Amino acid sequence: MQRWPAEAIWQAVEPLLPAFSVEILPEIDSTNTELMRRIRAGRAEPTLLVAERQTAGRGRLGRQWQADAGASLTFSLSLPLAPQDWSGLSLAVGVSVADSLHSAIKIKWPNDLWLDDRKLAGILIETASIEGQRHAVIGVGINITPRAGDGMSTPPASLQELLPEIGAAETLERIAAPLVKAVLAFERSGFEAFRAAFARRDLLKGRPLVTSDGTNGMGQGVDETGALLLATGAEVRKISSAEVSVRPVGGSFDTTASTAPRPQGS
Ligand code: BTN
Repeated sequence: MQRWPAEAIWQAVEPLLPAFSVEILPEIDSTNTELMRRIRAGRAEPTLLVAERQTAGRGRLGRQWQADAGASLTFSLSLPLAPQDWSGLSLAVGVSVADSLHSAIKIKWPNDLWLDDRKLAGILIETASIEGQRHAVIGVGINITPRAGDGMSTPPASLQELLPEIGAAETLERIAAPLVKAVLAFERSGFEAFRAAFARRDLLKGRPLVTSDGTNGMGQGVDETGALLLATGAEVRKISSAEVSVRPVGGSFDTTASTAPRPQGS
């Protein structure tokens, strides 16, 4: 097992999140799945769970998230959360992670970090409720070392393209405490607190886009809730639904999601 900065992260975060713990596992099916299981079983203390290897990593829309051990950073953060409005949480998380890493990283609405028009990282946010309290599980997977495209139409980017010496442990150390602070700021102030920072990293703004229902338009940023604004000839549409996907015209990738997490718990 590599050396992880668990103690340093705990020292920085515990004053903000009482009962917080950091856990590093050599292997698990999925850090998101495990934290969702724990919450549903009543073990809902705030936790940062890192896995050196996931055997069933999950992405959005039932997709898999595959990464070789050592080639990526995979972790999930669970915490009780009660924002007035959950809209835009994935964008706030993206802003925080990007700000902790590099100015060249863009955010592809609603859940991805991109570098030079290639995917660098994915965010998967789920929620579960227990005893009337809703908990968020925020999963992040970041490609650290370069890897082959694995049949993907667009081969992924890696963080070492920007920061050649960086490893998974150092990446986590940079990200973790700022991410907790960002999520707590989101709980207090909502997406508005992140809107300007998101705009600086918006990959889709000013690009011709097409949605899954065949609408063409120009990306015009996001509104105050984090909904994507798509200017068609006749109107400006707001896209926040999980049912609509959007991709740049001529691009090979798609996105389908909402900027607010989907409740999964009972
Ligand atoms: C996506 O791109 O669709 C989201 C990918 C999220 C992957 C991370 S890796 C850590 C956490 N555990 C999972 O099973 N998924 C998330």
